Amino acid sequence: MGKLKANLLFFLSLVSLFLKRLIAVNTMTSARSIDDSQTIVSAGHKFELGFFNGGNSNNRYLGIWYKNLPVRTVVWVANREFPLVNSSGLLTLGDDGTLSVVNESKSIIWSSNSSLTAKDPVAVLLDTGNFIVKDAGDDNEGRYIWQSFDYPSDTLLPGMKLGWNKKTGLNRHLTSWKSSDDPSPGEYTYTVDPRGLPQLVLRKGSSKLFRSGPWYGTQFSGVPVLKVNPVFTPIFVSTADEVYYSYNTTANIPSRFVLSQSGSVQHLSWNDRHSDWYLIFTVQQDRCDNYGLCGSYERHADTSNNRKNVTIATTISVASAMIILALIGWFVNWKKKMIRDHQPENQVTISKVESEDDLELPSVEFATIQVATNNFSAANKIGEGGFGPVYKREYAIASTWETWVLCGEVSFGDGFIVHQESNFE
Ligand SMILES: *[C@@H]1O[C@H](CO)[C@@H](O)[C@H](O)[C@H]1NC(C)=O
Ligand SMILES: *[C@@H]1O[C@H](CO)[C@@H](O)[C@H](O)[C@H]1NC(C)=O
Ligand SMILES: *[C@@H]1O[C@H](CO)[C@@H](O)[C@H](O)[C@H]1NC(C)=O
Ligand SMILES: *[C@@H]1O[C@H](CO)[C@@H](O)[C@H](O)[C@H]1NC(C)=O
Repeated sequence: MGKLKANLLFFLSLVSLFLKRLIAVNTMTSARSIDDSQTIVSAGHKFELGFFNGGNSNNRYLGIWYKNLPVRTVVWVANREFPLVNSSGLLTLGDDGTLSVVNESKSIIWSSNSSLTAKDPVAVLLDTGNFIVKDAGDDNEGRYIWQSFDYPSDTLLPGMKLGWNKKTGLNRHLTSWKSSDDPSPGEYTYTVDPRGLPQLVLRKGSSKLFRSGPWYGTQFSGVPVLKVNPVFTPIFVSTADEVYYSYNTTANIPSRFVLSQSGSVQHLSWNDRHSDWYLIFTVQQDRCDNYGLCGSYERHADTSNNRKNVTIATTISVASAMIILALIGWFVNWKKKMIRDHQPENQVTISKVESEDDLELPSVEFATIQVATNNFSAANKIGEGGFGPVYKREYAIASTWETWVLCGEVSFGDGFIVHQESNFE
């Protein structure tokens, strides 16, 4: 009898497992809450939302992870700072569209706390990894009541925005986990600094560790350039309403930016062959972008920002009258690269940079640009940047190349510049 009962129970649990797979839903309504044993799965089975354990701790968190990867990879956490102590948590959707995580005694542990409300709210986990609340039947992105993409944890997925909505003051930024057991906010943040020419800034506490340099049409001036690659298109938008960084992937493979617990900003892609994440690059890979390693870099950066504002204003007002091209960028020739390459790892050669009066505003002879771009040859032009045509110049050394950005300016001596040097193989 006992054995029969056990068999029956086993059979029933198999059936319920099977049913659960079959009826995996991507939507929740206010009529039904999600308990610790249940999950929501996006329509294309890309992402899953539910409760998970914080590493080796017994704390439970509501989060989103990739549905079909063998390595549990959490991309978003709701109750980062307020874990549930056991599996008695519930996710509920209120009649007004507020999502809440409540514990056994129905105390609210976390809530979506949107100022907008819906008449007939539904919460949907999209295949992008975005968990949204909207009015049923209204698919307009602009009218979402709330979305998890607006409150990133340590991960930026394709299509997520890192940066500001200037109208609402919403600042979407990444914060590292404290440890692999504890998703609560760690020391590191990665944000868009919207002042002057906007750029990305990595901080440890309040001290700056890295800044990307401003965006010049196709990439940041201080980040190693990626060779044209099939998996990743960086996007930077700066308008009156918003300023943000984002990226697109064309290949249909999982891809994420993550701010690690040790403070590195990594771009990872899934590698099916090795069944693991593959590091494409670390943003602050160029050691010279680290403040500590570059001495007085920060001071230079601040003065150059001010000057750039002036420069740009001048450019805009004068550009229509005077079309003079000047090179943008700081100039590092292949000799310096050679020197650096032949130095021991921890000795970064930046003598040229340090001796510049202003790191990012060196003067460059017109003839230099002319030669570098092969007299502005169309064959060397690779696109149009935010400030003008972008030229590419190949070095004799096969593994290095660089991009030149040209812009309208009033004088060569005060021109401003982007130089890019790729260390990315
Ligand atoms: C969950 O934890 C609370 C507080 O410690 C306790 O009162 C409750 O009995 C626990 N519930 C379960 C199902 O373990
Ligand atoms: C639920 O959370 C509240 C507030 O954090 C706490 O005071 C209470 O003890 C918790 N109840 C259980 C059963 O965990
Ligand atoms: C909800 O948001 C308001 C305004 O931003 C804030 O004052 C309040 O503390 C928030 N409440 C919770 C529970 O987070
Ligand atoms: C990014 O991808 C989305 C979806 O594939 C597309 O709608 C959008 O236009 C792309 N944006 C850019 C800047 O490539």
